[in-house]
Amino acid sequence: MIVLGIETSCDDTSAAVLKNGALLSNVISSQAVHRQFGGIVPELASRAHIQVIMQVIGEALDRAGIGKHDLEGIAVTCGPGLAGSLLVGLSAAKGLALSLGIPFRGVNHLEGHLMATRLEATHPEPPFIVLIVSGGHTQIVLVERWGAYTVLGRTRDDAAGEAFDKTAKLLGLTYPGGPVIEREAARGDSGYVRFPRADLGDTYEFSFSGLKTAVLNHVRTRSEETVQRHLQDICRCFQDAVVDVLTEKTLKAAVACKVRDIALAGGVAVNGALRQRMKEAADAAGMAVHWPSPALCTDNGAMIASAGAFYLEKGDVSPFSLSPHPSLNL
Ligand code: KG4
Ligand code: ZN
Repeated sequence: MIVLGIETSCDDTSAAVLKNGALLSNVISSQAVHRQFGGIVPELASRAHIQVIMQVIGEALDRAGIGKHDLEGIAVTCGPGLAGSLLVGLSAAKGLALSLGIPFRGVNHLEGHLMATRLEATHPEPPFIVLIVSGGHTQIVLVERWGAYTVLGRTRDDAAGEAFDKTAKLLGLTYPGGPVIEREAARGDSGYVRFPRADLGDTYEFSFSGLKTAVLNHVRTRSEETVQRHLQDICRCFQDAVVDVLTEKTLKAAVACKVRDIALAGGVAVNGALRQRMKEAADAAGMAVHWPSPALCTDNGAMIASAGAFYLEKGDVSPFSLSPHPSLNL
């Protein structure tokens, strides 16, 4: 089946073509307009999606070497995400599907992130544990079967990616914060300061707002000169704290659920320190860790095509009355 996947839930406009599980194209247009604000401005995001969506879809078809009449189904993110941004993708998907007379399927963005793992040649088969870590979400999920999930724990406040973004902003670094902090942290001293790790007892829940406040207090009680001199050390110690809790809780969940595989998904799964720590911990426990390539971790149309194809191939389609669900859960 040839499926077009469309993703517009946040600040990336993306479209991809998937043919019988093989990815033919994955075009991603990231919005630069938010950089000057240090975060995403929803109204600017939806406008920017409108400006490029048809061009991005056209390019995805061109790169795949197919015409729109070759498409057999369209998958699109219907939530969670920004209402206005979701609406742009949904409207484009519905219009295209209606005009071509083909089925369309709304996809949960979080299921898209975890189904990105299926696009890699070697990927885990259920049951496995997936850590979904992005700018909007942080959760540990037991994948019992494809399509059957149990969320074991979520963040109580900030998502891991949000913690990277907010910490970068308070350190005067650019948006998105994750890649910048990772780059700075690479040359930092892990013994410089110890930031708190929220334990939250015997749960699989996370909390990152205290960590962000601890960095803020650290910066406020030192001179600008000292902070700048130790910027790499602060980034390193912040990243260590995030990676520690993510690794520890994910491993605990994998042991408790008696699975042999762990997957990482979402934008923060690009982080090299997280990948390395998770691999070391999994190796020690006799488990395997899987992660998609970076372009399939951050928001992309391919993961939406992957999840959409799973349902469309079974004839599980969405009604054209489907509307955006900004706070959809997995
Ligand atoms: O999955 P994603 O593209 O969008 C959401 O669904 O939120 O994730 C974006 C998040 C941002 O918060 C960004 O700072 C973070 O992923 N991120 C990283 C890295 N690359 C992107 N965080 C840590 N290290 C990275 N290398
Ligand atoms: Zn995402």
